[in-house]
Amino acid sequence: MGSTATDASALARELAEARERYRVARPVGAALDEQAREVMPGGNTRSVLYHPPFPLRIARAYGSMIVDVDGFEYVDLLGEYTAGLYGHNDPVILDAVREALNDGLGFGAHNTRELVLARLLVERFPALELVRFTNSGTEANLMAVSLARAATGRPAIAVIDGGYHGGLLTFGGGEGSPVNAPYETVLLTYNDIESSRAALRASADRIAAVVVESTLGSGGCIPGSPEYLRMLQDEARAAGALFILDEVMTSRLGPHGSAPGLGLEPDLITLGKYLGGGLTFGAFGGRADVMAAFDPSKPGALPHAGTFNNNVLTMAAGIAGLTHLLTDDALNELNARGDRLRMTLRSLMAPYGWTASGSGSMVGFHPVTGPITRPADLADADPGRRELLFLDLLERGWRPALRGFIALSLAVTDDDVDRFIDDVTTVLAARSSR
Ligand SMILES: Cc1ncc(COP(=O)(O)O)c(C=O)c1O
Repeated sequence: MGSTATDASALARELAEARERYRVARPVGAALDEQAREVMPGGNTRSVLYHPPFPLRIARAYGSMIVDVDGFEYVDLLGEYTAGLYGHNDPVILDAVREALNDGLGFGAHNTRELVLARLLVERFPALELVRFTNSGTEANLMAVSLARAATGRPAIAVIDGGYHGGLLTFGGGEGSPVNAPYETVLLTYNDIESSRAALRASADRIAAVVVESTLGSGGCIPGSPEYLRMLQDEARAAGALFILDEVMTSRLGPHGSAPGLGLEPDLITLGKYLGGGLTFGAFGGRADVMAAFDPSKPGALPHAGTFNNNVLTMAAGIAGLTHLLTDDALNELNARGDRLRMTLRSLMAPYGWTASGSGSMVGFHPVTGPITRPADLADADPGRRELLFLDLLERGWRPALRGFIALSLAVTDDDVDRFIDDVTTVLAARSSR
């Protein structure tokens, strides 16, 4: 559906009304937002959570549900941007954390649990011969990239325009974020084999690593083609650089991550999100000969610090999830549910000028007609249309991300998915602006 002048004014009016309804219905949220603004820039400590007129403020959560400070309940389709795979209060996770709490916090020493989680990860992900823990996916990627630079003695990293590897490694619109870590970068166009190969060859002797997500998460939930990803791996190898697969989000796409199904054998992978059971987590690792650089018993070892790298609560929650909850069947069903959601959304939203993207349980929906193979295909996505659908869905008790992103958790049922699909089509049909 094209955006005519009439559409634009209808959209502006409907959006203003929807924002006002949101604001008026949430006096507690509004007051707390005012207070937060006194002590945090814009009342915010995690930029992605902001949306006008003031962001959701959640008081408590259970199962698949979140409850805001004004008492509104929502089915949480965002699943903490993939970290909330186990839902909000699975007893297996909570009991594991309680048990760990009973043993005390902050040992300033190795503990017994880090070894168990490390082994679970090494057995799970074929690329992972040796692993190290961090506190976030951001740190995991910073460490992996820094390791590649140290290992190769080269300065640059090749990344995707539209790739996201944490707040300090964010790329889009042909440049890096102003607050990025100051690495020299070579920007590649996702899924464009010819131009990316040429760019890699042109800088072959400067590149320490090629870093890529097999499905762009933050960049619009866009899958990479196997041919493209394998070309990146081949070119990295040919250049003497490391191939780093950022599996922080995509490791949920299969019991062994996304790499094996795509025919990829990364030198290093980075992990995060749900693998810490829903607590703060990151990890990086891969080839034993490369990771050996961190062996502190060896002279000249690289340092890798982090007070909370092996914190017992994350270790306990991560172990519990992988041991008791995330069976291969459960994960495969989750991804099949996401595939069904995406395919149904794609056909039902098409008449309204929307399409759906993603892989498995990572689902995007966008106000463009598609197809979407690279972030530039989203250039015409109207932020106003995104926001209006977001507010309409909140009003009906659904919480995706404002940018049109869903990461299904194990707590979201087939029935939830069916009801969500019904509501999406109902609210789109009801809007004259769309
Ligand atoms: C692909 C990818 N890499 C890295 C990160 C950063 O992880 P964290 O937010 O834990 O720092 C994210 C977070 O969304 C991500 O999606």
